[in-house]
Amino acid sequence: MLVRRELAGDEVAIRAVTAAAFARPGDDVPVEAPLVDWLRASAAWIPELSLVAVDPDGNLAGHVLCTRGTVATSAVIALGPLSVRPDRQRSGVGKALMHAVLGAADALGEPLVVLLGSTSYYPRFGFRLAGEYGITPQRPEWAEHFQVRTLTAYNPALRGEFAYPEPFDRM
Ligand SMILES: CC(C)(COP(=O)(O)OP(=O)(O)OC[C@H]1O[C@@H](n2cnc3c(N)ncnc32)[C@H](O)[C@@H]1OP(=O)(O)O)[C@@H](O)C(=O)NCCC(=O)NCCS
Repeated sequence: MLVRRELAGDEVAIRAVTAAAFARPGDDVPVEAPLVDWLRASAAWIPELSLVAVDPDGNLAGHVLCTRGTVATSAVIALGPLSVRPDRQRSGVGKALMHAVLGAADALGEPLVVLLGSTSYYPRFGFRLAGEYGITPQRPEWAEHFQVRTLTAYNPALRGEFAYPEPFDRM
């Protein structure tokens, strides 16, 4: 498996991996699949931070993306969706994508990464509850899953309410 940036032509495979990863009983197409397309078409898209994991057979095993969000008026990074093909889960694909995208965001000089996700998965990548940094979610009920990973350029003065880019409002 290798991790590389998303290229033109990967869109259909990314949509399929996202739909499979987030499939829920009774749900035709999980909203995370069109969300990726909406984000790609928006001003919040950061092409350097849309990464795919590709198996030796050329098939996509997983995908991660980060888009532009804000804390108060400062630019930060929102991570997600992160998707691993069901038959490839629990084999290190998510881990490889997470380390790659966090390294790339740090190299771009981004101060911090925000996500809404499992507190049993993301702390292994350095995420902590956002409240510890004075960063609050748009909806108070998100607080117990709302996490932040600080990067080299982080400054503790960066505090306030986080806002996802507009396409997340369509979910
Ligand atoms: C969550 C997900 C991205 C993890 O990727 P992965 O490639 O399966 O995970 P890795 O192989 O890197 O890591 C496996 C470890 O993560 C844990 N893990 C996997 N999914 C988890 C989840 N949803 N919650 C908590 N822990 C999880 C496993 O128990 C395993 O732990 P261990 O190393 O202590 O045994 C993947 O399972 C997935 O795509 N799930 C469906 C979509 C989703 O929920 N995305 C995240 C939204 S926030």
